[in-house]
Amino acid sequence: MASKVKPQEQTEVSEAQIAVHWKEEGHYQPSDRFKSQANMRDPHILEKFGLDKFPDCFREYADMLTWFEPYRTVLDTSDAPFWKWFVGGKINASYNCVDRHLAKYGNKAAFIFVPEPEGEPDVVITYQELHTRVNEAAALLRGLGLKAGDRVTFHMPMVPELPITMLACARLGIIHSQVFGGFSGQACGSRIQDSGSRVLITMDSYWRNGTLVDHKANADIAVRAAKELGQDVDKVLVWQRYPGKYSAKTPMSSGRDAFVNDLLKEYKGKNVEPVALPSEGPLFLMYSSGTTGKPKGAQHSIAGYLAYVTATSKWLLDMHPDDVYWCMADIGWITGHSYIVYGPLANAGTSVLYEGVPTFPDAGRPWRIAERLGVNIFHTAPTAIRMLRKLGPQEPRKYKYQFKSMTTVGEPIEPEAWRWYYDEVGKREAVITDTWWLTETGGFLCTTVPALHPMKPGSCGPGAPGIHPVIYDETGAEIPKGSGKAGNICIRNPWPGIMQTIWGDRDRYIKTYFAKYNKSPKSKDWRDWPFMCGDGAVQAADGYYRILGRIDDVINVAGHRLGTKELESACLTVPEIAEAAVVPVQDELKGRVPEVYVAVKPGVPPSQDVIDRVVKAIEDVIGKIARPKRVYIVPDMPKTRSGKIMRRVLAAISNRRDVGDVTTLANPDVVEQIRTLVQGKDVVATREELPEDIAKFGEVE
Ligand code: WTA
Repeated sequence: MASKVKPQEQTEVSEAQIAVHWKEEGHYQPSDRFKSQANMRDPHILEKFGLDKFPDCFREYADMLTWFEPYRTVLDTSDAPFWKWFVGGKINASYNCVDRHLAKYGNKAAFIFVPEPEGEPDVVITYQELHTRVNEAAALLRGLGLKAGDRVTFHMPMVPELPITMLACARLGIIHSQVFGGFSGQACGSRIQDSGSRVLITMDSYWRNGTLVDHKANADIAVRAAKELGQDVDKVLVWQRYPGKYSAKTPMSSGRDAFVNDLLKEYKGKNVEPVALPSEGPLFLMYSSGTTGKPKGAQHSIAGYLAYVTATSKWLLDMHPDDVYWCMADIGWITGHSYIVYGPLANAGTSVLYEGVPTFPDAGRPWRIAERLGVNIFHTAPTAIRMLRKLGPQEPRKYKYQFKSMTTVGEPIEPEAWRWYYDEVGKREAVITDTWWLTETGGFLCTTVPALHPMKPGSCGPGAPGIHPVIYDETGAEIPKGSGKAGNICIRNPWPGIMQTIWGDRDRYIKTYFAKYNKSPKSKDWRDWPFMCGDGAVQAADGYYRILGRIDDVINVAGHRLGTKELESACLTVPEIAEAAVVPVQDELKGRVPEVYVAVKPGVPPSQDVIDRVVKAIEDVIGKIARPKRVYIVPDMPKTRSGKIMRRVLAAISNRRDVGDVTTLANPDVVEQIRTLVQGKDVVATREELPEDIAKFGEVE
């Protein structure tokens, strides 16, 4: 189990030096061909969105939408830091994404659905067809008595019925809360409870890696879990992967469960007027992990959010109506909401929706899809790039597609992977935008404007138009660019895409994102409320930001945010476990993966059975995506004298680094015991510096 690592020079490396030690990467220029067709070519765009023009500069974003009633105030700060954008206006997101395109683009594809089985034909959904299906679904939801402000939870896979149902909700002002399909039934249940949903919408089955998964089983678990937490679900609506046929083994529960395709028969051809909703009405909730065990529901607004994703799709993804755009993310995450559904559709784009795994049945699949559909804008995450490179480095060359632009999102990308993406996937012609942002921010925060700024491998770039980042140290002092010092990246100003609050928890919203750097809690001036993103970052002399990863107890596994506290409480559901600690480990493909340390209760012998049950508990409570790489049963946890588990020490051991000085711990001897258990007796740990997110792991409480 233990791997040998080379001992390195014994030097203490400070945070500041680490940053300096990185090699500066060279710049790559966008091609003239790309530049000549780009939507955003104004070299003064960043100045036009300067802080001196704030917030009025964002009127241009609102102008990209169609309003039922114009707004009166660009930004209302009276309830700081709960910002209200474009106040007084009336608008509908479904109308903006569907109806307003019918006259010009009715026969154009809105979605092209690509099923995972390669023999199944694509499903093209034109704007006209989308309109019909969204209206019928909206009529059904209205028929169930649902109305503006109600919450509905989805636990849907990557199928067109997901955006159709989202847009049906948006038409009525129902707040949708899509839970990533790969989360377990229990995880879905706790999100149902938190949002207070009485309706769950799911699908019987879907294809994943060659298997038709019985997804309905998760709905039963979710409803039971929600009930245990005190939330009743009255209706479970089940879409069928193959309409008219039930493809799951789990029985339907009579009275509670119904097939959407059966109910829809009653609503055939029905039209539902899009409701004129207030700008600052909520559009959806998106749950995300944080420092505590309870996921937080990021609440996004209708107008501000939609304006932000519309403008950033147009200018930064460079989306034109005649482009064929493919984002490989899952709609169950924020990237899919913003940049598969709302942003692309508001721009009358054509958005490809792929059901399955990128490497199924082989690493040529994405390039075959791109060639066949003429995809020219491609969007994915570093984990997929690493995976496709490992399994098929030469594959892209075999296919005759040509991207004009490509995006990377979700994790830091190492320059080596970036160069493969540029050279092989982009064939040295496509521009790359490395877009850094979060669930909470609705859309991009830092990225190059693709026709204007050179690219730099591993760095996301400057702030997007109207986004003014700043890096603070622990004391709140600004860290200047080019200093080589890392700190906490914050955004100085609000922007339309920012979340409105954490659903049902205003205090946590203030505490998580603002408390650290706000000096005046009563202030109504936005300048007093920098938004703390939760990432460490460093700014090079050229102004480009490089993101170092989360500074809270969140592990970014393959671009998915997993809260360590959530994993630890899952471990504690196994009766034999007394204590659990989860730490991030560097992984060649997934960036980071969790490793678990558990201590068993007195009298319980350590066994493989206990380990297996810990793994199963994590899969049941969170989902297979959280499956740990290894589980270690330790005699005791390394602890401070006040009893706090030193996760940082465990992280150093797991990553085969030197643990540093542990003499001040309450039980220093246990450290060597754990080290031997994990690394073996003879291993000499390296002094090589740990990445920032791991080095500081567990410091934020
Ligand atoms: C990380 C995903 C480096 C970051 C949109 C952030 C990135 C977290 C990048 C948010 C990037 C996202 N480079 N790191 N381009 N994009 N991250 O909420 O740590 O799922 O805080 O939103 O992903 O993850 P979330």
